[in-house]
Amino acid sequence: MTDVRDINQDAAADFFSLKLSEKQFRHISNTVYKVSGIDLHQGKEELVKARLLKRLRHLRLGSFDRYLKYIEQDQSGLEVQSMVDVLTTNKTHFFRESEHLDFLKNEIVAKLGREKIRIWSAGCSSGEEPYSIAITLMEALPDIEKADVKILATDISERMIAKAREGIYEQETLKPLPSQLCHKYFRCSSQSQPRRYQAQARVQALVSFAMLNLMEEWPMSGPFDVIFCRNVMIYFDKPTQERLVRRFWPLLKEGGHLMVGHSESLTFLSHEYRYVRPAVYQKIKGYAKNIKRPISTVQEAAS
Ligand SMILES: C[S@@+](CC[C@H](N)C(=O)[O-])C[C@H]1O[C@@H](n2cnc3c(N)ncnc32)[C@H](O)[C@@H]1O
Repeated sequence: MTDVRDINQDAAADFFSLKLSEKQFRHISNTVYKVSGIDLHQGKEELVKARLLKRLRHLRLGSFDRYLKYIEQDQSGLEVQSMVDVLTTNKTHFFRESEHLDFLKNEIVAKLGREKIRIWSAGCSSGEEPYSIAITLMEALPDIEKADVKILATDISERMIAKAREGIYEQETLKPLPSQLCHKYFRCSSQSQPRRYQAQARVQALVSFAMLNLMEEWPMSGPFDVIFCRNVMIYFDKPTQERLVRRFWPLLKEGGHLMVGHSESLTFLSHEYRYVRPAVYQKIKGYAKNIKRPISTVQEAAS
């Protein structure tokens, strides 16, 4: 079989001077939206171009038209996946928006007890979020190995899931962690500069990583005590955010919590959750029916 690269190869192309036309940008953003829900609106042209140049260089394709043709001819769908992968924003860090972790420890775990805890980190990027959750739970439950605790961590990006699974981070990345937690839950995996640390096996044992596109079918049925979907919906448009928040509902236990990023309140979305505190919502069946106007909206807007 002829590899499309053989036809379109243009190793001598000056990649930096390549132009991305409005039509090509629209084609790419429509494809990315259909596949991942990510809304690459106007103004994102330079970002798209800069990130996709890596793919063009890798495939030795000398123009965006050739790249789009390559995608069209790629029956495996792998290149669309790689394209979405490079266009995702994976910024994250340990103990990000740590009020959520305090709430998990002080309010949720304290009330749940220690028998069985199920948590989903949806859009976990390179693993800092689920490992922060695992460490928080280990701190809250000193005899955690006797409890039945599982954290599912998923992301659309294969690259990020591979990195997360490895659980190896540079010293700089571990800075947001108090040093006592760093020593307690990580081990030095490489002395050479920059020094690297790996999450200890007992931390990794709590987390299962899997690739999952939130726009597709979800193989798991829950129920979860908490779903963390933080700093993910910000890349989606309103109808996609509403659909997603609605799909989380049946996967949560009655009384379970949904945590979103602090810049992603559900204020302007139609939803049935009880507002608990900024970026924390709770599933209470029938709650929305018993109130004339979603109190959440009022409380939230005022907080
Ligand atoms: C900015 S990171 C947030 C990471 C972490 N939740 C946090 O708050 O630090 C957003 C993540 O969402 C993932 N993502 C974007 N669209 C997705 C989709 N359709 N399905 C699953 N993950 C997606 C990206 O790959 C990226 O790793």
